[in-house]
Amino acid sequence: MNDQHRGRLTRDGIRIHEAGDFAGMHRAGQVAAKILDEIGPHVVPGVTTGELDAIIEAKVNAAGAKSATIGYKGYQHASCISLNHVVCHGIPGDKKLKDGDILNIDVTVIVDGWFGDTSRMYAAGNLPRKAERLIEVTHDALMLGIEAVKPGNTFGDIGHAIQTFVEAHRMSVVRDFCGHGLGRVFHSPPNVLHYGRPGTGPVLEEGMFFTIEPMVNIGRPETKVLADDWTAVTRDKSLSAQFEHSVGVTATGCEIFTLSPAGLFHPTRS
Ligand code: MF3
Ligand code: CO
Ligand code: CO
Repeated sequence: MNDQHRGRLTRDGIRIHEAGDFAGMHRAGQVAAKILDEIGPHVVPGVTTGELDAIIEAKVNAAGAKSATIGYKGYQHASCISLNHVVCHGIPGDKKLKDGDILNIDVTVIVDGWFGDTSRMYAAGNLPRKAERLIEVTHDALMLGIEAVKPGNTFGDIGHAIQTFVEAHRMSVVRDFCGHGLGRVFHSPPNVLHYGRPGTGPVLEEGMFFTIEPMVNIGRPETKVLADDWTAVTRDKSLSAQFEHSVGVTATGCEIFTLSPAGLFHPTRS
């Protein structure tokens, strides 16, 4: 049997991985998370997002990993960098960071065939109080979603935990993008929604690997994709934040493959 097809699929098409597969996901997740740790000091006013991406690409190569995003559906960069009202899939380029900008940096690497996908928020210079609150709520929402990951719970339980927390803070959850299964592939079933009702959706089983990556807006949840066919922005131009972890369901809960090796909560506070 070829490695790509080890384990089994649930009736929802979700791959159940084997116990030995967690180590590969851990290695890939840690390579991506270490790059997010190391990029923090480079996020300063005056640097361009293209320069940050070049540093990231060099670090992916230095780690002996492969970028999962270069060549993916025509995408040409080692990261997505989403500034201020950009929700996700921002394309690195010539734009210089200004004091008070907030940005999400999303890196996906392939290590020995396993995918590690993670993103965090950063700030250039001084972090405005409103942006700080948005970033805190988004990170807390991700971690509450992760707390709902255990066998017997459902994907709807994860979405519900995230949505109720975010809306209690009078912010909104983006509906147009979701998390995804991953493993030896980048995007696979299920769609991991960041909103939902308890007890709905597929039941979580040990051996499922997926991302949780909530996008939270200060204003309304609607997004639109710009003419470059990648950059997603908030329709009302309000600020947006996102954090992403790759996780694997264990017998009692989950393993977070992409935790910061340096123990950073998020680099804006390091
Ligand atoms: N890393 C993103 C995710 O979380 C996907 C980026 S695809 C790209 O799923 F082509 F835009 F890089
Ligand atoms: Co992802
Ligand atoms: Co990602």
